[in-house]
Amino acid sequence: MSLQGREVILGVGGGISAYKSAELLRRLQDLGLQISVVPTRASLNFVGKATWEALSHRPVNENLWNNISDVAHIKSARIADVIIVAPTTADLLAKFAHGIADDLLTNIFIASSAPKILVPAMHTEMWENAATQKNVQTLRERGILVIEPDTGRLTGDDVGSGRYPEVTRLISEISAFLDLTSDLLGLKVLISAGGTHEAIDPVRFIANRSTGKQGYAFAIAARNRGARVVLVSANVALADPQGVEIVKVESAQEMAKALSDNFSDCNILVMSAAVADAKPAKLANQKLSKSDYSSIELIENLDILKSLTSAKKKQVVIAFAAETGEDSLERARVKISAKGADLLYLNDVSEGAIFGQDETEGWILNSSGDVSKFETAGKDTLANELLNLALTTRVKLGYAND
Ligand code: CTP
Repeated sequence: MSLQGREVILGVGGGISAYKSAELLRRLQDLGLQISVVPTRASLNFVGKATWEALSHRPVNENLWNNISDVAHIKSARIADVIIVAPTTADLLAKFAHGIADDLLTNIFIASSAPKILVPAMHTEMWENAATQKNVQTLRERGILVIEPDTGRLTGDDVGSGRYPEVTRLISEISAFLDLTSDLLGLKVLISAGGTHEAIDPVRFIANRSTGKQGYAFAIAARNRGARVVLVSANVALADPQGVEIVKVESAQEMAKALSDNFSDCNILVMSAAVADAKPAKLANQKLSKSDYSSIELIENLDILKSLTSAKKKQVVIAFAAETGEDSLERARVKISAKGADLLYLNDVSEGAIFGQDETEGWILNSSGDVSKFETAGKDTLANELLNLALTTRVKLGYAND
């Protein structure tokens, strides 16, 4: 799989093996990756900035306090498709495991949702230390790839585990990981997020409780996996994810237009927005006074999803249903076929649950009638799980053959 043009941040920790990362950088460039180096201050005692600037053909900054107005750590964190830290010292492992952010690299690390790869290299005693091993375990549990060091000669006369791995092994483990996290490369993922506003008059509207967190989690997950992402966002108060094309809309009508403009060449549609089923029949030009709105006449909005799926060719479509009450699973089964979707995520929103939360819990249905429980987990985990299912559906339906 071509990784051409994907952005890598190569963090360099303060270990004697830092010089080996110069070779790693070259080999990563051979894969077509664009590299920006972020050395820690300590690492500059081993390899200077000039080396990294010359090899990466980019300016190198190690100081959180440089160009403050650029907010470099947040910018870099958003641009990165993957973060690799080599060598990762025992100190950096501890900082990453505990969320400590006290320099540019650790700030970027904590601010980024990109996949992360660590290459620990240190003396055997430090590597085998219980605190280090616990930190490695914590980081692995969070989905971070921590590559096993080699066993061999260390800096002094000693021999043991903790050696910076051979670059050929690093490249093969990194490419395998990147291949996994690049499985949407070349695909366009269209996502709707948030909740529509249907205007009553110039100051009032009908809205819903959707905050857009699920849709934004999809956008970030799909971007991290290499997709071209178009995010149609309705009234969301979240930061714009980088590397994603965002179309901001307010009403269902605007959302319908933005989605239909983008549907024909998309490969996966994620319809996570809460679309108002109805809107006021008349939009008042002037602010209504109390006496004018004892009742509001409503007319039905277009069912956006249905109208898109009626023109569906090779798109895998993921619908959402927020239901309350006992027969919600039954209603979801009816909904998936009525809407022409391939997958549907059902969550129970009784008493306002799920809205605005970082976690979700529900059921995943497919168009063949299979149902599986999605146990409580982050909205990003759900996004990745549904994207996995969308990819298998693409293969099953023969959409992936072109
Ligand atoms: N949806 C849509 N257009 C609408 C309403 C809903 O595209 N006008 C989409 C939602 O984004 C979601 C799916 O349809 O992916 C199901 O939404 P839901 O509100 O549960 O469905 P409704 O058709 O509104 O059904 P209900 O009668 O239960 O409100």
